[in-house]
Amino acid sequence: MKVLVCGGAGYIGSHMVQLLGELGHEVVIFDNLSTGHQNSILSGTLIVGDLLNEDDLDQLFAVHGPFDLVIHFCAKSLVGESVQHPSRYYRNNVTGTHNLLEVMRRNDSNRLVFSSSAAVYGVPNTRAIDESHACVPINPYGKSKLIVEQMLQDYHSAYGLRSVSFRYFNAAGAHPEVAIGERHDPETHLIPNILKPLLSKGSPLRVFGDDYDTPDGSCIRDYIHVCDLCDAHLAATTFMEEHDGAHIMNLGNGEGFSVFEIIEAVQNVTGKHIDYTVEKRRAGDPPVLVANSSLARRSLKWSPAIGEINRIIETAWNFHRRYAASKELKSE
Ligand code: UFG
Repeated sequence: MKVLVCGGAGYIGSHMVQLLGELGHEVVIFDNLSTGHQNSILSGTLIVGDLLNEDDLDQLFAVHGPFDLVIHFCAKSLVGESVQHPSRYYRNNVTGTHNLLEVMRRNDSNRLVFSSSAAVYGVPNTRAIDESHACVPINPYGKSKLIVEQMLQDYHSAYGLRSVSFRYFNAAGAHPEVAIGERHDPETHLIPNILKPLLSKGSPLRVFGDDYDTPDGSCIRDYIHVCDLCDAHLAATTFMEEHDGAHIMNLGNGEGFSVFEIIEAVQNVTGKHIDYTVEKRRAGDPPVLVANSSLARRSLKWSPAIGEINRIIETAWNFHRRYAASKELKSE
């Protein structure tokens, strides 16, 4: 099939491009390279352009379309930044997606997989949350994702666009073989922030809060391997052929780990001691976020293949070591 991957140079997108390439699909990547990396794309055709530029989109579909499927990863995704600069989030995540939906509509392209987020739930009131949990996002990032989910419901009702929105929990890990992985600048995510000081000089990890109402006082999250997320996206394409609708599914492992448990797991995997300081809570962090992903498991006949936390961390560690040692990867 011919697939358009918007945001294919980013962390999750580059793993999706890799998977589609391995399976022999024809892939076109659309990315503005604002946070993505050209050298994270190992196959497919890269078109540099912006969702906010409708001419770029028209050109993309005119020259490279039609597409059997669009997978949409482009987004700004820093919770803290979204609180300070909501305008960037509504413009990029909402207007950008609306532009994409419109060019798809003009070109009769009617299959979409969208990257949503557990951030749409806000502060959960139960332990493992399913999709029926109330959505009360507590930051503009989560709100922007929820607005798009709602747009997709309306585009389905009015224009017949079939979609699956995946509410990711905490994407983690890296491709076990090829040199792609998580490299954000600035990095805000826990696992890379634990690993990076082990490989270069820099300040030690800061643990944001040890006074939450959790067994060890630190926040609990559900970490899911990036390749497992991508497998679910692939399974969604078959699902959409068989099921009309604008579907919403959680993607997580269903098991929660606290920040201190992750630190301990990293120590076990790397054999290195982790220094850290405890700081005050980071604004907008819910104490516990754990997924009930039974809907995705059942509907997509999907289950995580790299579910074990040590294995997830090991793939991230291997990538970070490879990255630290490679001038070529760092050249961008
Ligand atoms: N944390 C630290 N120190 C760090 C980084 C993170 O203590 O240097 C803590 C955070 O406070 C949080 C946990 O580790 O308790 C996980 O933090 P991440 O930043 O790795 O992930 P988040 O749970 O904040 O973010 C994820 C996604 C976001 C999404 C959010 C929804 O990456 O895109 O879940 O709440 F918006």
